[in-house]
Amino acid sequence: MAIHSRQKHALLEAYLRVWTQNVAANWGTDSPSLDIFDLFAGTGWCVEREYRKDQWPGTAMISAQQLMQYPTKRKCMLFLNCWAEDDVVRSKNLVALQQRVHTLGFERSNREVRIVSYELSEALRIAVELHSARKQYPNLWILDPYGASDVPWQVIERIAGLVGSYKAKNGKSTSRRPELFINFMTSSLQRNIHNLPMVTSALGCTVPEWKNHLQQVESAGGTFLDALATFYFSQLELVYGRPPFGVKIPGKDGNPVSIVFLAVERDAAWHSVRKESIPHFEQWRLQKYLPRKEWVRTRHKIDRDLPKGLKQAELEDSYQ
Ligand SMILES: C[S@@+](CC[C@H](N)C(=O)[O-])C[C@H]1O[C@@H](n2cnc3c(N)ncnc32)[C@H](O)[C@@H]1O
Repeated sequence: MAIHSRQKHALLEAYLRVWTQNVAANWGTDSPSLDIFDLFAGTGWCVEREYRKDQWPGTAMISAQQLMQYPTKRKCMLFLNCWAEDDVVRSKNLVALQQRVHTLGFERSNREVRIVSYELSEALRIAVELHSARKQYPNLWILDPYGASDVPWQVIERIAGLVGSYKAKNGKSTSRRPELFINFMTSSLQRNIHNLPMVTSALGCTVPEWKNHLQQVESAGGTFLDALATFYFSQLELVYGRPPFGVKIPGKDGNPVSIVFLAVERDAAWHSVRKESIPHFEQWRLQKYLPRKEWVRTRHKIDRDLPKGLKQAELEDSYQ
């Protein structure tokens, strides 16, 4: 694992803290349930690949730890898919992941884990089935592939389309779209700049649409990366009805290798993330890991001010 990927993990943890700290502070043991579907879980643990000295929890263990800390007495489901092309690697990773979750002591009567090992399309089918049995609950989907081509846009549409409806306390029926945490691997698409089927499948557009967009961005002085980022951003915005959060994850040379997108639909969730997670992420950068200059070079522009007249989200409004 490259050291820069640690930033994506910090962001995931910061997002989950909105639940485990903020929602929990308001609701305690009555906090709503939260299901997490991690479709590219790996071993659940990361070791820095150059010096092999730094180690830290991956998406699966962060999710497990946060769900364990979350005080809700309601059942929370953790779905982990651990797959690798090479069968030996796959079995090894799977055993490592199973042992880690087991050692953590995740499973209790109200914390359920399901670990599977399939290529994405089959894992998604199973996850969707599981989700449909629990669709009224808030759920987060984590997509953390090696390359953007491992996640065709159709997959995003499929997940984002899993809209559940539930009755709020006031009796009103409301719908709920899954929340999405995507590590969009721009680097892999940049390496395949001429592979139009690969680029357009990840972006969910036709070749002429992409060519048009790229031309527009380039004629305005933008780069291929800008074109990828803005296209993906607006695709997510179209589905979610509001802009996603986007944080560039820089590689060693300072150039982004990926952009972490977090897409949430509901007002309260959106404003909470904005208020709580992003500053937390910045603190993480500044305080904890500043000495490691070789990989802390990110600069991201996220407007954190709330629009005038809006107060920080009333979590109660949406998480009931
Ligand atoms: C970037 S790693 C995941 C890291 C993990 N999320 C973490 O934080 O530790 C990507 C993982 O996806 C697996 N993978 C690659 N192609 C896949 C596919 N088509 N379907 C499912 N998993 C795949 C790889 O074997 C690898 O374990």
